[in-house]
Amino acid sequence: MTITEWLKEGFEKAFPGVELPEIKAVPATDPKFGDYQCNDALEIAKKAGFRNPREAAQKVVECLSSEYKAEIAGPGFLNITITPEWLGSALDSLDSDSNCGIEQLGAGKKVIIDYSSPNAAKQMHIGHIRSTVIGNAIDRIYRALGYSVIADNHLGDWGTQFGILIKGYRECLTQEERDNLAVATLEKCYVESSSRAKTDEAWKTACREELVKLQHGDPDDVELWKKFIDISINEFNRMYSKLGVKFDTWRGESFYRDMMAPVVARLVEMGLAEESDGALVVRFEEEGLPLAIVRKSDGGFNYTTSDVACVESRIKDYDPAEIIYVTDDRQILHFKQFFIICSKMGMKAKLVHVPFGLMSYQGKAISTREGNLIKLDDLLAEATRRAYEIVKERGGDEKLAEEIGFGAVKYADLSHDPATAIDFNWDKALALEGNSGPYLQYAHARVCSLMDKAGNPDVSAFRYSIASPSEKLLALQLLKFGGTVRKAAENYKPSLLADYLFQTAQLYSSFYQQNPILKSEPEVRDARLKLCALFGRVLAKGLDLLGIAAPVRI
Ligand code: ARG
Repeated sequence: MTITEWLKEGFEKAFPGVELPEIKAVPATDPKFGDYQCNDALEIAKKAGFRNPREAAQKVVECLSSEYKAEIAGPGFLNITITPEWLGSALDSLDSDSNCGIEQLGAGKKVIIDYSSPNAAKQMHIGHIRSTVIGNAIDRIYRALGYSVIADNHLGDWGTQFGILIKGYRECLTQEERDNLAVATLEKCYVESSSRAKTDEAWKTACREELVKLQHGDPDDVELWKKFIDISINEFNRMYSKLGVKFDTWRGESFYRDMMAPVVARLVEMGLAEESDGALVVRFEEEGLPLAIVRKSDGGFNYTTSDVACVESRIKDYDPAEIIYVTDDRQILHFKQFFIICSKMGMKAKLVHVPFGLMSYQGKAISTREGNLIKLDDLLAEATRRAYEIVKERGGDEKLAEEIGFGAVKYADLSHDPATAIDFNWDKALALEGNSGPYLQYAHARVCSLMDKAGNPDVSAFRYSIASPSEKLLALQLLKFGGTVRKAAENYKPSLLADYLFQTAQLYSSFYQQNPILKSEPEVRDARLKLCALFGRVLAKGLDLLGIAAPVRI
């Protein structure tokens, strides 16, 4: 139980039926007032009918369980002290918890997380890091909370671009390029074919004809399309395996292609969609949102239709309690609209959009047109190169360089609140110092080397003895790990966990500076080593939840 929960329980017992303010425990300003302080008895005294607020505080103290200790001070403050015994036993239970203090809130609950979801036939660039890395951290965090997670890559594998691609493949590529087809080649032929379509009417018509043929199942076009998708998935998987990202399913937009017509028919039946200029639209007057087209005037369906069909299909196949989507914030309206449609159609899952700020480069949106497209592959290679420069002096290899370089890239993203936009900057993305992934990895490696020096003792035989203020701060912080993971999940913000880990590493560092370990008396030394080991375990677990490796040596 946290101190706030403990206090709240006491207040509720002391003042049944009284409307309580938010009960808060703030760190004490001076250690002689204990560890925490709560001023809420003062505020509530009058409401609860006490003339003297000290009496109200007294009532609370009588109702508090014995978990922590509270004393009344001044006009009715509560000073809360955490005893070394309490800390020791709290740390013991953290030690014996195989989930590292993470409550299994998700046990028996299913969640689908739709993330990364790039468009096929295009190379991944730095703009794709965010959905991939944030989505994967949320995925890992939910799994740690005991949820049964289905990571679903909703590939953009259907739509007008395939008519353009098929035409381009047949006409813009050499035989050699066709024989050695790669995503980069597809991208090139797409650019060429689509720019021809802009000036050449006949070309444009031909592209559209290929699209219609594909949609009607023409075997040659379908075979080509499949080839494009396979090549794309292969290429994406090459990135994902570097990044330690794995999907449970790859149901792209095409998976839902035959489900869209029936969904739209039902929308019409339910009176939710109506005709407008030859198209079918859903209006959101009550919600104050612009209308959404669900069938275009040419009879084709769109992104909205496909996402509604997708929710229905996911509920039918998986029956998830929640579906979480991680995309950039340009899609906020799209998600609002189709979530409303799903709920009006009676679909029961909780739908959540986690929008992240767009990544720009030198103040400009990342796009082929701007010519500022940095490929994800190149970013990862540069990250590895920079890390290698540093680790090679200490005998580190390529693998270690990747762990550190990728850790830097991931952390640079995850340490921001997802909602903030990021202007990509090589030095920041690859930072090896300060509030960075490598700083945390280094802190972890240092604990491991300390344990090595101590002869890797079995710390489970040792006893905690939290004596000095910096030890106490570190111990309290470690106890907050589970709660932080939960908060990160509830708010869909891995950044909360990143912040926590950075603070924890800083507290460890002051503890380490202020408390000699190996040179202390055996009993003190053992107690401190035990705390160090726990710090190492929490840090490694936290990094793992962010998808960042925790090498034992750097
Ligand atoms: N392919 C889309 C994009 O590149 C993201 C898809 C997100 N998922 C979804 N169900 N709409 O922006």
